Amino acid sequence: MQPFTVFGMWKNFNFQLVQETHFSQVLLFLKETFYKDEPIKGIMGNMTKDRVTDLDNRILPRLKDGKTFMAVDQESGKIAGVMIIAACPKDKDWNLPPALSPMTSKVTPFLVELEGSVDMYNRYGVDTYADIFILSVSQDFTGHGLGTELLRRAISWISEMGYQVVQAAFTNPASRRIGEKFGFVEVSRRYLVDAKDDKGNKTMPNADKDQ
Ligand SMILES: CC(C)(COP(=O)(O)OP(=O)(O)OC[C@H]1O[C@@H](n2cnc3c(N)ncnc32)[C@H](O)[C@@H]1OP(=O)(O)O)[C@@H](O)C(=O)NCCC(=O)NCCS
Repeated sequence: MQPFTVFGMWKNFNFQLVQETHFSQVLLFLKETFYKDEPIKGIMGNMTKDRVTDLDNRILPRLKDGKTFMAVDQESGKIAGVMIIAACPKDKDWNLPPALSPMTSKVTPFLVELEGSVDMYNRYGVDTYADIFILSVSQDFTGHGLGTELLRRAISWISEMGYQVVQAAFTNPASRRIGEKFGFVEVSRRYLVDAKDDKGNKTMPNADKDQ
């Protein structure tokens, strides 16, 4: 399928489908951006080698799903932003390897609870939906509409691929604002300060109360 509404130029950015040859470049981009500036990762801090491997392992199967695209800055040739989209059919199992970092085990129960808090299949009467798994813009390029453009193109493409439902977990005020602009409806909300590990201990007690 040619995602013609996704590819091509916008401002100084070339939007391209992420192919297998780009995977290591994209993971490196996320390590330098998303693994530091997404709020949960920022609060948990201490991004060890094991934690990076755990995150890479979670992301790689989604990249292999073939729906991720990136915006490349034409001037520097660097990746400026990445949009990871993955199909979520009912029986989907990402077959993740066991976590290496204790921090991953602390955060995972919160994410699992959040992801399971809405039954998308029954709520919307579908067997599959598209998940916007990661929206990341490099701090060198934020504040100029690139995040909005990535989501705009993502929604066009998701619709073009025939999905009737799209889900996103917006963990950042700016990404929530972008979601609002495209009419996302809030169906579930969790606060980071309430996140607990599987022993019931709070994992992000220092998070701001509105995060
Ligand atoms: C969130 C992110 C993708 C935004 O990228 P961006 O290119 O700066 O986004 P845009 O310039 O298109 O737009 C941001 C919008 O959020 C608004 N915004 C920015 N900071 C905000 C804040 N603290 N609170 C509320 N809105 C904010 C902007 O005003 C703009 O809205 P507008 O068009 O109505 O003025 C980028 O900051 C990022 O990658 N953050 C770290 C990773 C992350 O948290 N990703 C989202 C996880 S779901």
